Amino acid sequence: MATLGVNIDHVATIREARRTIEPDPVWAAAAAELGGADAITIHLREDRRHIQDRDLEVLRKTVQVKLNLELAMNPLMVDIACRVLPDQVTLVPENREEVTTEGGLDVVRHKSDLVATIGKLQDAGIVVSLFIDPEPEQIESAASLSVPAVELHTGAYANAEKNADEELQVLARAATFIHQAGLILNAGHGLTYRNVNPVAELEGMEELNIGHSIVARAVFVGMTEAVREMKELIGR
Ligand code: PXP
Repeated sequence: MATLGVNIDHVATIREARRTIEPDPVWAAAAAELGGADAITIHLREDRRHIQDRDLEVLRKTVQVKLNLELAMNPLMVDIACRVLPDQVTLVPENREEVTTEGGLDVVRHKSDLVATIGKLQDAGIVVSLFIDPEPEQIESAASLSVPAVELHTGAYANAEKNADEELQVLARAATFIHQAGLILNAGHGLTYRNVNPVAELEGMEELNIGHSIVARAVFVGMTEAVREMKELIGR
């Protein structure tokens, strides 16, 4: 059974639409925990379009489950993580114009910068995971960087209109390769109540990070119920 990290960024997106104080992602995290969230995930973006520094600081004090911070490989952001100390940092690529994280981190290309970034985070006692595309060379490179975990980008599978089965096979092959490399397997991006099951059932799946679909359902049924329903699905 995979654990569930609930990404609450889009609660902050609604707040920032009016630059006001509600809805508060801190409330969302508490409600998600009541629904059975195993982790709370937030992405502190360089442009601060949703989660703010204050959110990270308050959530660090209030979240009772694992706090997973998605972060770009930028020294200023890494300094913030080392000061606030989330339980886990997931390093992601970040492009200012993108609507959401578009692809995995190119671990092959950025390997030398990653060595320093990962070292700094690990010295602070933070568990590091790398958000990567399901490609053998990315997995190989991640394994050589002495991180314990990777998060597989499930976007191609989630967005596939006709060839979802093929994309699932790509994820399945990557999952096997990740186990062989001795890494913990996490996954996320674009997962919904309709498409999550086959990903949750991939062998050895440890943690799924899901945001938009849960927040979208929470608008109608409430956050606690939306999380409970997702937990039921991935526990099957
Ligand atoms: N995992 C990572 C690394 C992400 O960047 C995101 C999006 O912020 C998610 C998971 C969640 O994606 P979604 O909102 O599509 O569920």
